[in-house]
Amino acid sequence: MTDYIYLDYAATTPVDPRVLDAMLPYFSEDFGNPSSVHQLGRRAEKAIEQARRDVAEVLNCSPREIIFTSCGSESDNLALRGAALAERERRGARHLIVSPIEHSAVTATLRQLRNHFGFALTEVDVDAAGRVTPDGIARSLRPDTALVSVMYANNEIGTLEPLAEIAALCRERGVLFHTDAVQAASQLEIDVQKLGVDYLALGAHKFYGPKGVGALYARAGSPLLPTQTGGSHEHGLRAGTQNTPYIIGLAEALKITVNERETHNANFIHHRERLIEGILHSIPDSALTGHRTERLPNHASFVFRHVNGNDLLMHLDLAGIAASSGSACKTGDPKPSEVLLALGLTADWALGSLRLTVGRQTTDAHVDRLLEVLPGTVEKLRKFDESEGETIWTTEMYRASLKTPSQADLWKRVGETKRQVREAIGTALSLEFRSEQAYQAYTGLCGEAQMAREDEVLTQELVEMLNAQADKVIQLRRQSK
Ligand SMILES: Cc1ncc(COP(=O)(O)O)c(C=O)c1O
Repeated sequence: MTDYIYLDYAATTPVDPRVLDAMLPYFSEDFGNPSSVHQLGRRAEKAIEQARRDVAEVLNCSPREIIFTSCGSESDNLALRGAALAERERRGARHLIVSPIEHSAVTATLRQLRNHFGFALTEVDVDAAGRVTPDGIARSLRPDTALVSVMYANNEIGTLEPLAEIAALCRERGVLFHTDAVQAASQLEIDVQKLGVDYLALGAHKFYGPKGVGALYARAGSPLLPTQTGGSHEHGLRAGTQNTPYIIGLAEALKITVNERETHNANFIHHRERLIEGILHSIPDSALTGHRTERLPNHASFVFRHVNGNDLLMHLDLAGIAASSGSACKTGDPKPSEVLLALGLTADWALGSLRLTVGRQTTDAHVDRLLEVLPGTVEKLRKFDESEGETIWTTEMYRASLKTPSQADLWKRVGETKRQVREAIGTALSLEFRSEQAYQAYTGLCGEAQMAREDEVLTQELVEMLNAQADKVIQLRRQSK
């Protein structure tokens, strides 16, 4: 994969080799259970406690306030569910406030609290750049508000939120404040005293640490009911034997990120600005999403009118470029993103989203290549989109129709096949190539679909072929569930 260009660092990052080195001894030599009383156990425990101190130093808090978890999603879940249920028990508070642009780890948790645990949930408005205003929060606060949740930096549009102001307001009104800092931690200062938050969620794989480990900051004295019960691990707040090597990896990755932040951010901004200028300049009917300046240094996100975002990703992938249409969890979903709709975008724009996020391995040559490939790809897809309906009926289609029982029947099949192919490509993408078979079916399908698009014809034969291929992908999808 040496020629492949990766512009999807918001989805995940590769593990830094220094992080891997720090982790390795804890898989084999120092494999003890950190809860064991013998020497091996004590060594693991000592390493975890050092990691906790390291993370606490970065966050400017006490090590007692750090809880290691299995990922960013779990950190969000523990904070939100744990705080809301504890606040309900403590003072009967049953109201929650959230921004409409949160990651699903937050929205799904809060919606579950609303739908199954009797909480009321208010979504505050954001402006066209995705910024929540402290005024909007102030207007939504009620005497029974238990918790407010607003993310530090948005994963889809890169916008930074005015956390310190919102936190100050919440503190003044005696309401708990949670922030999802999963995207922010790779580039922004995360001093919980300056931010004034009560809970803050992190996930290591966004800052060149391993996948499958996260951390939650929970301010001393703020209520938190454990959601995973069992042993007394993690100050009794998260049961389960700790994953020593991954916790070591998270702490090491965070230290490196903080030490090198300035240098990396300067590079990220250089690439980001080239992407933004280059794309907006060369592609008509394109727009930047999110705030122009108050955004993550590595984040450039766009919408292109009358383009299908999933098709765009597929074409970029075929050209050797990895990008995303939003958050990794949404890829393959043909509905417009809730985040983009919350900004006030209409579906004809919101469906054509593209997120480009640069990282430590990004070079000028990578950005050059993207700027070379993207304008033509967008143009090609627009042409294909316009050709839907009457104009796709070409001479070859006419010839093919002569062999079919009725022209109407063929029309129906073509429409159906095109829909199926789009869906199949979406599902294939969301498989994340978990199996070799799925990957093969996916590339086959992409090839055929691209051919059909380039020729702007769908012959009867091609229709059959695409149908078979689409069925195969759908079957694989079912098997993998
Ligand atoms: C803003 C945000 N929150 C939470 C998560 C979930 O993190 P994890 O993948 O570690 O569960 C992500 C991942 O994309 C994210 O971008």
